[in-house]
Amino acid sequence: MLLHVPHVLSKQHVQSIRQAMNQDNQWVSGKSSAGAQAQNIKKNLQINSNSQLYQQLSQQVLPQIKESLFIQSFALPKEILPPLFNCYQDTGHYGNHVDNAIHYYHEKNITVRTDVSMTIFLSEPDEYEGGELIIEDTYGEHEVKLDAGDAIVYPATSLHRVEPVTSGSRIAACTWVQSMVKDDWQRSMLFNLDQTIMQLRQNLGDSKEILQLTNHYHNLLRQWAVL
Ligand code: NI
Repeated sequence: MLLHVPHVLSKQHVQSIRQAMNQDNQWVSGKSSAGAQAQNIKKNLQINSNSQLYQQLSQQVLPQIKESLFIQSFALPKEILPPLFNCYQDTGHYGNHVDNAIHYYHEKNITVRTDVSMTIFLSEPDEYEGGELIIEDTYGEHEVKLDAGDAIVYPATSLHRVEPVTSGSRIAACTWVQSMVKDDWQRSMLFNLDQTIMQLRQNLGDSKEILQLTNHYHNLLRQWAVL
């Protein structure tokens, strides 16, 4: 299941990130962060993750991701990695690949299993041609191109690619979540139940039945969550 989360970053926030990126030339080849299979099919740039600018940007974006109630409900995060920042231009692309299963979280000195992938778009769709994120799941291929500040969140088990950018620049942040609930299907069911309970509460107010459903949600989470 894919989830479109609008306004993870405000337009103002996006603008300040984009301005900071323009100050220095901090872009390096993106091949350094790809696995062996992915290196040959990846052509993009990324902000040097050893730079001060990277620290500054990732520390700006990470709290916004953590604050999103939609992302919390969908991904049930145990750990969220600091995001990477990438730029596709001049036919830059990333062929079909699967993300590495394990990432090292440098600041915390821990390894993180990537259960959920996330891309936050930092360019508006009319700033570039091509650059669609194509995600394959059991229902086929999904083409994603979102407004700046919006995120797409999807199971890290999905094959995906970024189509060549034929004009302009496509700037985005991407990151991964280790979820308390590893199984995609269990996570989807919890998300659907959580969202339905919230809508029922909005439409009908509190009731004994809604309380029972909420109890059911928490008991399932208790059953499935691994901390
Ligand atoms: Ni990827």
